[in-house]
Formats: sequence, structure tokens, C-alpha cells
Amino acid sequence: MITKKTINTTIENKQFLKDFKNDVLKGLSNYNKSLPCKYIYDEEGSKLFKKITKLPEYYLTRSELQIFSESGNFFGNLLQNLTCNIIEFGVGDGQKTRILLKHLTQNKIAFRYYPIDISSSAMADLINTLKRDFKNFESNGIVADYSCDLTCLRNMKKGTNLVLFLGSNIGNMNFSQSIIFLRRIRRSLNVGDYLLIGFDLKKDSTTLQNAYNDSQGISEKFNKNLLNRINIELGGNFDLNLFSYLSIYDLKEGAIVSKLVSKKQQLVKISSLNKVFSFTKGETIHTESSYKYDQNDIQQLAKKSGFSIIESLYDKHHFFTNSLWQPK
Ligand code: AVJ
Repeated sequence: MITKKTINTTIENKQFLKDFKNDVLKGLSNYNKSLPCKYIYDEEGSKLFKKITKLPEYYLTRSELQIFSESGNFFGNLLQNLTCNIIEFGVGDGQKTRILLKHLTQNKIAFRYYPIDISSSAMADLINTLKRDFKNFESNGIVADYSCDLTCLRNMKKGTNLVLFLGSNIGNMNFSQSIIFLRRIRRSLNVGDYLLIGFDLKKDSTTLQNAYNDSQGISEKFNKNLLNRINIELGGNFDLNLFSYLSIYDLKEGAIVSKLVSKKQQLVKISSLNKVFSFTKGETIHTESSYKYDQNDIQQLAKKSGFSIIESLYDKHHFFTNSLWQPK
């Protein structure tokens, strides 16, 4: 079932379009141009991200999958005898979560599953495959932008809440944005609830950069989907070939910073904004930051947002960690 903020109602599309327009106008009017990465994820963007997760260079998803496949007993024991609401922010195709859900059903744990994702097409696919593959739990999909809407957490049925925020999705926020977001989650949780976060760990720059500069150019297409989407939905005339993709690890920031770089002096018109934006040669549009963490960063985040760390799970290379928290 897909509920509430459900898919494709006209009013929500209107609101979405309004936000999209405003954000694009604001981002491209800045002296340092930028576009919010959440707009990458339409149907095409979600497909491209799925491709990224299978790239040899993109170790993040594989590492987290390994953690999940090896921690069945851990979660089985943790949630034994509880009735749980499992709430997941930014699910995508839910590949990792399926492993967890399978462990839980095998351990006869009673739970309901509430996936939340910004992409209505990804959500529809997810709910369909869950319905096909699992008969023994209820899932309610919510199409929403989790950065602004946590009210759904308060409407949960009785039980222990386990909130999942996987895949280093948190990495798209900087430290202070993360703390604001985590504190909001904290306020909507009860003592005894859990929050499980996936963090990509700091490591050598080459491994990090390769993950965002794959040899097949999928990461580039993924980032450029932002421009594609502006062309399609806002009547833009970006020529994707006149922008190159640059993604490097900023050591000081502790983040992979991705940008689109104008190859020449050019004007870009966006009809629905009634605006023309000018780009100088070499001018950039910031499209995404992907923050990386060490155990100290994670400890700070937990502490500053009112949580204690209960457990840290790692893959065999210690490339990635899933950190389990509880409200302090
Ligand atoms: C989905 C935000 C975790 O930052 O690694 C992949 C998105 N961007 N390749 C990430 C992404 C370029 C990804 N997250």
C-alpha cells in the first residue's frame, strides 16, 4: 500500500514544481551557483543511481550489503519479542533493506515497514516487489521529501520504532544540517527506539574519488540528470555536452564535492522561470557533496543530536559502517 502523501495527486505535483522552480531560481542566481542534489532522483535519476550501486568503483552499497548479510543474528536478537515499526528514509530500490527484512521474518519478529522516498516511481516498484516477495508483514510506502517532513513518525502505531537512514544518504548534508535533521528525528522518537545510520568512512582519496569517477561515465550522467530534468520539467535549454563533470575529495571538508563545469561562455534559458542565466568559461554549478566520516565524527554527531551509540557494524575492509543509536 502506498499512503498519505501519495503519488501524483495534482496538488502535490504543483507543490513539487513550485519548490523545484524556486530552488533552481535560487541556486542559479547565487554567485556560487548550485542545485540541490535531491532533484537528481526522478525515474531516470533513480535508475542511474541503481546502476552506480553496481559499479566496480562504487564500493559503498556492496560494503553495506555485506554488513547486512552478516548481521542477521545481531538484529534478530536486538528486536526479539518486540513489535516494531521500521521506518526508512530514502529507500531507493531497497536492496539492502530486503536482506534485513528477510532476517527479521526468519527470526519471527513482528514488524511493519514504512519506506519513505522522494521518487514515486522507485516507491511504486519497491512496494510491488515487497508485496510479491513477502507475505508476512505490512508495508506502507510514503512518497515524501524526508528533509522537511517527519510528521509521519508521530503517527506510527504502537511499538518500538527503528529508523533506518542507510547508504550514507546522510552524507549529502554537512555537519550542521545533519545535526538539525538528527535532532528532529530525536524529538520524534521515544526512549528505547533505535536509529540505524549508514556512514561512508574516510579513506584514501583515490578510492574515494574513483567511486565518483567511474570509467563508464554513469556518475557524470547521474549528476547531469539535474540539467536534463530542468530541460524537461522547467523548459530549460542546457546543452549537456557543454558541461563537464568534476568530482574531487576535499580533504579539509571531508567530502567528495561534485560540480558541473561550463566548458565555455554561454547563456542558458529556462522558460518557466522566464530567465536567462549566463555562465563564464569554467564557472561551476555545485551539484552534490558526499561527506565522509571517522568514528570521532560519528561520535560527535550522536552526542550533539542527543543519541548514544549502541553498536558499530563494519564490512571486512572497514570501508563503511552502520552505526546503531538510541535516544540518550
Ligand atoms: C546516495 C547520496 C549516498 O553520495 O555516494 C553516488 C549519491 N552520487 N554517486 C553518494 C551518489 C554520486 C550517493 N548517495
